[in-house]
Amino acid sequence: MGISIRSVGAYVPSYVETNHDLARQINTSDEWIRSRTGIAQRYIIAPDQSTTDLAYGAARAALEAAGRPDIDLLVVATATPDRSVPATAPRVADRLGISGIPAFDVAAVCSGFVYAMAVTEALMRTLARSRALVVGADAFSRILGPDDRSTRAIFGDGAGAFLLVADPDSEEVLLGRDLGSDGSGHDLITRPSSGSASVIDHLAGLQPYFAMSGKAVFMQSVRAMVQSSENALKDAGRTASDVDLLVPHQANLRIINAVADGLSIPVARAAVNIDRVGNTVAASIPLAVHDALRAGKLRAGQTVLMTAFGGGLTWGSLVLSWPDNVAH
Ligand code: COA
Repeated sequence: MGISIRSVGAYVPSYVETNHDLARQINTSDEWIRSRTGIAQRYIIAPDQSTTDLAYGAARAALEAAGRPDIDLLVVATATPDRSVPATAPRVADRLGISGIPAFDVAAVCSGFVYAMAVTEALMRTLARSRALVVGADAFSRILGPDDRSTRAIFGDGAGAFLLVADPDSEEVLLGRDLGSDGSGHDLITRPSSGSASVIDHLAGLQPYFAMSGKAVFMQSVRAMVQSSENALKDAGRTASDVDLLVPHQANLRIINAVADGLSIPVARAAVNIDRVGNTVAASIPLAVHDALRAGKLRAGQTVLMTAFGGGLTWGSLVLSWPDNVAH
């Protein structure tokens, strides 16, 4: 039995916030944001929407592209669930008109989609599931400090989804995997005062807004993504020179360039959409894949390397042989 990809779906909210819009609200400029991050705009969730709406939009797009097959497993990667209890996935399943199937969230922040793909692939085998939706969805605009120019410049909202299918005729798509974490850096990318440590955080005077030590994680993220990519390539029996398309987590254009450089992969072979969507956290990789498909940059038979780094700290990479006829 092989596990393949049948379709890819994407959803972004309708409101576009440009760098110029941001510069009217906080002390920043289009020039600063473009030159430091490569970002020109990002999408922001509507006041009456939540992460469930984003996840539902991407899941529905993937299902419709594939002709609405029955689903028997749903996994949502998110760090911004609608509520801390319950998970987002059961509600997304309900919105899709499905009940009774396993549905749960995976929390690995920007590495969430890579973790969710690896978890889903394994569960499809052990639970004998034949059609699974893996969704990455985040609404980071909801947790950013209104005056924090270093995070508001970077993060945007959105969702992406893959429909995985398992059947005896499918070629195996996932060739190599690598996942890792280092909890000693848990406070470098964090949202204090939002969970069971709230009382402790509150006593320490921490605000309930997302906080990132950007400089401290910049070099770590490059090193971790390069090392993790090499581990996944080794697991797949491939080398970086075999990679036709690198799909890096869209954290910062300078990080994307440094990862490509560290792997000696020409940056022309990297999927880049950070200019348009910013850092969409768990949605970043599936949104970049969706854009690459639409641009004709991702074709059957190509070797694809996905790599991500994020809060936790966490990292993960996947090597795939891109299948035929992926609908989008
Ligand atoms: N507009 C204008 N100035 C800004 C700004 C903005 N949007 N954001 C930050 N600055 C200022 C800072 O306040 C600081 O000013 P100061 O020197 O007066 O204190 C100055 O720019 C330099 O800030 P610094 O954080 O050192 O900038 P940087 O070059 O490191 O860029 C990031 C900041 C966040 C873009 C960058 O560190 C980064 O991308 N880090 C990695 C993010 C990441 O990978 N996260 C993990 C995955 S999600």
